[in-house]
Amino acid sequence: MKEGIYWVGAIDWDLRNFHGYLTQRGSTYNAYLIIDEKITLIDTVKKHLTDDMFQRIASVIDIDKIDVIVSNHVEMDHSGAISAVLEKAPNAKVYTSIAGKKGLEAHFDTSSWDLEAVETGVEISLGKRSLEFVQTPFVHWPDNMVTYMKEEKLLFSNDSLGQHLASTERFDDEYSFDVIMQEARKYYANIVLPFGTQVQNVLKTLSTLDIEMVAPSHGIIWRKHIAEILQEYTKWSSNNTEKKAVIVYDTMWGSTEKMAKTIMQEFDKKGYKTSLKHLGFNHISDIMTEIIDAEYICVGTPTLNRGMLPTVSAFATYLIGLAPKGRKVITFGSYGWAQQGVKVLNKWLEEAKMNIVYSTDVNYIPSENDLERIANDVKEVLN
Ligand code: FEO
Repeated sequence: MKEGIYWVGAIDWDLRNFHGYLTQRGSTYNAYLIIDEKITLIDTVKKHLTDDMFQRIASVIDIDKIDVIVSNHVEMDHSGAISAVLEKAPNAKVYTSIAGKKGLEAHFDTSSWDLEAVETGVEISLGKRSLEFVQTPFVHWPDNMVTYMKEEKLLFSNDSLGQHLASTERFDDEYSFDVIMQEARKYYANIVLPFGTQVQNVLKTLSTLDIEMVAPSHGIIWRKHIAEILQEYTKWSSNNTEKKAVIVYDTMWGSTEKMAKTIMQEFDKKGYKTSLKHLGFNHISDIMTEIIDAEYICVGTPTLNRGMLPTVSAFATYLIGLAPKGRKVITFGSYGWAQQGVKVLNKWLEEAKMNIVYSTDVNYIPSENDLERIANDVKEVLN
């Protein structure tokens, strides 16, 4: 990466499910090795890929020479191999955030670790170079921090600014820019979205640093397009929306689908960008990527027994968890003998304090009159 600084992470080519997030391009767990008077490892990899990381470290230096480990984040895709490193380098000192210390102690037997919690502004010397720690709580766990090396203008940003993207190319000028940005967008929408305020605080801090390279813990390293990704993070974290509606639904016998298309047409007529997402064919994590800048989220479900179709309830669970702020919600659907699907959906969304601006359901099959009524109602909402 730079003189004496190496990527020693692991490529997870086959990863397709990251706790519910469809990672169709796999991922990487980026660990970084710094050769200085103190040999330093920034983060590690998922446990099952420990040997990949060890081989990469061993191609540079004996693992037992590691003096310092920085754990920017407790989640086990980055901390999973710390114990294995400490078995080979038992005297290495581990630096982490205050919440990180508690988290590591909860995940591992740290009784023999030389573990130090550091706050924002703490700087350690590695010899010729130094590391400064900056807490970034809730981007996206309470323990997250980033680490900055001023001598190289290099930021180890951990999860922030990352992408789930398996690749042998390491840098943003070696890979399709559009694909990197698409995966960065998906990553933000599915991991970082609930924490816009915290992201904006972090961006303020980062704006005071002189940065030439951003090395996240997943995917491609930024050295050419740093301004672009920071600009996108500024936009996404602001929760500003575009004139856009995402219509998400599943259907049993086509009734809810007819309603979905009727609603979409009204948005089209008003000049909205629209996106129609059948839950049978679209993954919830890809739908969230569409929702990142949508003013309206429309959710449709038929009634199945006493509630929603399971595909819709899974989507609603995911949506409520990620809690996009400031969106307007429309709900719709059909029922046979129990008017339950939309009712249960509304209850969930209302409990999550989502702003439902219009809701409707129809018995069995929407008539022409029903569809005309729905079209008029949506038109009214958009006026
Ligand atoms: Fe990539 Fe929050 O772990």
